[in-house]
Amino acid sequence: MPLITTAPNFKLVRLASGDHSIHSLAHGETFHPVIGPVAEAEALYVNQLRLRERLKSHVGEFVVWDVGLGAAANSLTVLRTTREFTCPIRLVSFDNTIEPLAFAFENAAALGYFGDYEGQIEAILNQHAIRFTDGAREVDWRLRLGDFPTLLSGTSEFGVSPHAILFDAYSPSKNPAMWTLPLFAKLFQKLDPQRPCALPTYSRSTIMRVTLLLAGFFVGVGHATGKKEETTIAANTLELLKEPLDMRWLHRARRSHSAEPIVEEVYRIAPLSPESWEKLRMHPQFQ
Ligand SMILES: C[S@@+](CC[C@H](N)C(=O)[O-])C[C@H]1O[C@@H](n2cnc3c(N)ncnc32)[C@H](O)[C@@H]1O
Repeated sequence: MPLITTAPNFKLVRLASGDHSIHSLAHGETFHPVIGPVAEAEALYVNQLRLRERLKSHVGEFVVWDVGLGAAANSLTVLRTTREFTCPIRLVSFDNTIEPLAFAFENAAALGYFGDYEGQIEAILNQHAIRFTDGAREVDWRLRLGDFPTLLSGTSEFGVSPHAILFDAYSPSKNPAMWTLPLFAKLFQKLDPQRPCALPTYSRSTIMRVTLLLAGFFVGVGHATGKKEETTIAANTLELLKEPLDMRWLHRARRSHSAEPIVEEVYRIAPLSPESWEKLRMHPQFQ
């Protein structure tokens, strides 16, 4: 990928699709590496969450958690593709740094997706919050700046629980602290069991799927995006999953050499422990 401009920790790259994306030098990862930021956000999150369908009939506020605000491609694509619906949106973004957003905003022309949300991005960068009218609805957008696992473990108020979660940390091998079983178990506990909520993520690994199941989620096969022939979607109700993982997947997981969730902030690969297998096999999804 040709390099275009750099900051100490980020560079702008041109993808094979011709779109531009942000690359983290510290993690050696490009944010939306294949089909570009907007196309990937739309395929992985907007379509997979069936957001338009859900918002069309939703009554009251719809709450979205955007875990890993990064360069705001996911959050802005969610806003832009749903602005004809009238229900108010509460968007809560989480990140431990605004550096990628600031860098992306300096490169807004090349990235091309800030468009008419530039004022809102300035407010998020400077005040970490903004309320605004967006198309037919009101939006309340806040940034919770801090380490996400620490925020989840603390006593700080998270506000109303979400209807949808855009989960977009760096990959488990580069950012293991964001993919542990304790993190997803705490995240699941923050959900309101009466409020259907889905969480798509780009990983289709057995470890990640086992982690989500053992945290309490139901888990299904996710749409293909770009070169990834499959992704993953988790939810607190089976009704939000089109293709729940089945018994064949469960038995493949049992044989996999790489299925045991990580519990600490260190990435390592191991087959399922007997305790995890027992819990997995008893999960309501497989009864
Ligand atoms: C792949 S980027 C997200 C891209 C973003 N969703 C977008 O649409 O541009 C991953 C993001 O996760 C954030 N992140 C990584 N570890 C974190 C942590 N422990 N707490 C909060 N955010 C974290 C990074 O700072 C980075 O912005």
